[in-house]
Amino acid sequence: MGPIGVFDSGYGGLTILGELLKKFPKYDFIYLGDNARSPYGNRSFEVVYKYTLEAVELLFNEGCHLVILACNTASAKALRTIQQKNLPLLDPNRRVLGVIRPVSEVVGNYTKTRTIGILGTIGTILSNSYPLEIAKLFPDIKTVQEACPMWVPIVENNEIFSEGANYFVKKNIQSIFSREPNIDTLILGCTHYPLLLPVIEKNVEKNVQILTSGKIVTDSLSNYLERHPEIEIKCSKTGILKFFTTENPEKFNQTASLFLGRDVEGTKVELPFLIK
Ligand code: DGL
Repeated sequence: MGPIGVFDSGYGGLTILGELLKKFPKYDFIYLGDNARSPYGNRSFEVVYKYTLEAVELLFNEGCHLVILACNTASAKALRTIQQKNLPLLDPNRRVLGVIRPVSEVVGNYTKTRTIGILGTIGTILSNSYPLEIAKLFPDIKTVQEACPMWVPIVENNEIFSEGANYFVKKNIQSIFSREPNIDTLILGCTHYPLLLPVIEKNVEKNVQILTSGKIVTDSLSNYLERHPEIEIKCSKTGILKFFTTENPEKFNQTASLFLGRDVEGTKVELPFLIK
């Protein structure tokens, strides 16, 4: 048995972890933020894949049988290759899951105009993962995308309530709605973006629904664990929560505590890690 691993390039995955902790208070979790190498958003496929695989290997080494890539960029660029190429060699009994599929599965329940806007990092948008996934499930839905490359650095530097944050959020929101005014549902296709929610809401019309992935991914995991008792049984349940960061833990503790709304005490880890 072992904890569930939750991975993100930085602080964004905390928006997923927060919801997981509400739904699964007894389960053990390890959160890993690759803060030293964040943001991943405009890095190449090869680099995001390499960094993500290193993170998954570290979490497996920590005893995780199930790892959630709580990062859209990693889910878009690394998940499939890890599932198909690496898992069979590393350990075919462990699982790595992402965030794009669960959100795509439910969007059809929200939009009435059948027109959806997707906001994400350059990497996620260029991968076309959301439009491809949504087209498979809901061929009648039109998708429009907008890359918001400044939003993750704003969050990572905790500049959420600055004038600069409002400037960049407004700019991207205006851009996507000027291209498609019919959008009635916006997917925040980056786990950092819910931390900017108050700023986003200020710049979006009231009738537009904003979908964040935390709750959706948590419900999807709950369903997954019901369908896969062989994985569920391997998730330890002693209520332990550990945090790892690849950066200075003092800065991580401060910012992560603020974002998660509870005390965080992180340990510094090196990636790639060396098996002793
Ligand atoms: N939270 C990551 C995501 O969901 C942020 C990516 C980045 O590091 O740029 O895409």
